[in-house]
Amino acid sequence: MRNKWSSGYVSDMTYSHGYYHELSPPFIRFFLLMNGFANASQGGGYNYCELGFGQGVSCNLHAAANPRGRFHGTDFYPDHALFAQKLAAGAQLDANWLGLGFEEMLDADLPQFDFITLHGVWSWIDAAARHAVVEFLRRRLKVGGVVYASYNVMPGWSAEKPLRELLWLHTELAGAGSTDKRIRGALDFAQRLREGKAAFFDQNTRAGQMLDDMLRDDLHVVAHEYFNRSWHLTYFADLARDLEAGGLSFACSLHRSDLTGEVFHRTRGMQIGELEPALRQTTNDFILNRRFRRDVFVRGASKLPALERDAMLKDVAVTLMRAPGSISPTLQTPYGSVTLDASITRQIAQVVESSAGPVRIADLIERGDLSSTPLERVFETVAALVAQSQLAPVFADDARQAASARARAMNQAIADHARLDNTLRYLASPVTGQGMEASRIERLFLFAWEQGARQAPELAAIAWPPHAATTGAAQADAQARGDIETRAAQFLETTAPLWTRLGILQEAA
Ligand SMILES: C[S@@+](CC[C@H](N)C(=O)[O-])C[C@H]1O[C@@H](n2cnc3c(N)ncnc32)[C@H](O)[C@@H]1O
Repeated sequence: MRNKWSSGYVSDMTYSHGYYHELSPPFIRFFLLMNGFANASQGGGYNYCELGFGQGVSCNLHAAANPRGRFHGTDFYPDHALFAQKLAAGAQLDANWLGLGFEEMLDADLPQFDFITLHGVWSWIDAAARHAVVEFLRRRLKVGGVVYASYNVMPGWSAEKPLRELLWLHTELAGAGSTDKRIRGALDFAQRLREGKAAFFDQNTRAGQMLDDMLRDDLHVVAHEYFNRSWHLTYFADLARDLEAGGLSFACSLHRSDLTGEVFHRTRGMQIGELEPALRQTTNDFILNRRFRRDVFVRGASKLPALERDAMLKDVAVTLMRAPGSISPTLQTPYGSVTLDASITRQIAQVVESSAGPVRIADLIERGDLSSTPLERVFETVAALVAQSQLAPVFADDARQAASARARAMNQAIADHARLDNTLRYLASPVTGQGMEASRIERLFLFAWEQGARQAPELAAIAWPPHAATTGAAQADAQARGDIETRAAQFLETTAPLWTRLGILQEAA
């Protein structure tokens, strides 16, 4: 029997522990500014709410890395809410993670929000829950506030949609037992149809690829992606209309293909002319045959005067997210690749790499000898590098609080957890306000660092026992033990200086 709270949502398999940097306040704020919008979160404190936070990795990292924010969120799956709450408690983080459904959120005692985010939620919830979300946005978003939503979009799923409908029907009408059993049964069924040369698979090769992906992927992800009762595929224009009912207007896309200029380059020769924004975005989705969008909507879409927007952007700083020497002008996107102007990229990279901390874009222009380059070209190149997480934006009002203890406590909790298992794979950077992926051994070295280890043999000595216990290496395996010491030396040489820059190590490496 389904749980009362589940509303057709998969309720007996937990979701994965992913992290999504697009939900971080400074990332959203930077691209709003690129598009001419100021955000209400300037200056003092702000309120943030994530709806459907899953295991709560993103929301916990963002709460830890952004001390100006007061963070709230919900997920009605009790296992998810509990995991998120335990992570916060382990890091003494003051955050309000609730276990309420979206309908119940309407009457909860909550403030007005500057940011409301939903990642991977909209397409997977039923009409009643979508209605509650729109109502929540209408009631709870401040004027000047922003909403980030990601969702599946047409036309990119045209070939696969019928397969998902068949699989879903099979789990409902032919399946029995737990969700994972019914999913396996449905996948076997589709596999038999394909082997029997069902014409659908011949004529829709992408559906066959989707079946292969589903057979290969983690069943928990497959369950949440394809086996909720709702798999609501929308066109951009329909979603924009739904959100208009909540008083929201489209501000910008945060999809990498848009942020790196890929869509812009592809449309250049097409002569499609000026289009009304909803038609323009829907057309872009056809140009890429896009399946997923990441969009920002605002309440109050008044644009900044161009000169003010430029001045505010020049005042934003950027910092390096990778080891020096690795900034590249060739960027991969989900739909292809984009090559930036190599000389502007090199000049930007040189200045950022030679600075110990974040550099204001105004200083980048001056020190990088970019004053004769059109300003918009510099902004676009910086933005494309930010989109690729090669650089991260840093706002002055956030930077003043970057030394807060919140992120350190979260990182210690995560490093400590690495001794037990590999579920928490990101750390909080209080400089960028974002999470940063870290391998298990790097997190174990962080654990050792926090114990006071500073030399490779000490780091290796502390990291080795939990590493050996979870990889199955024999305690006496001298070769494996030596490898860990080599990796500790590499950590000190490459990772530790980067983490110091990013505030993950709060004492210079
Ligand atoms: C696909 S998962 C995405 C999780 C997370 N945002 C992420 O991207 O990792 C959708 C989440 O929404 C939650 N959810 C679905 N319907 C909900 C509802 N009506 N009220 C509250 N949470 C809901 C689910 O429990 C699930 O954790």
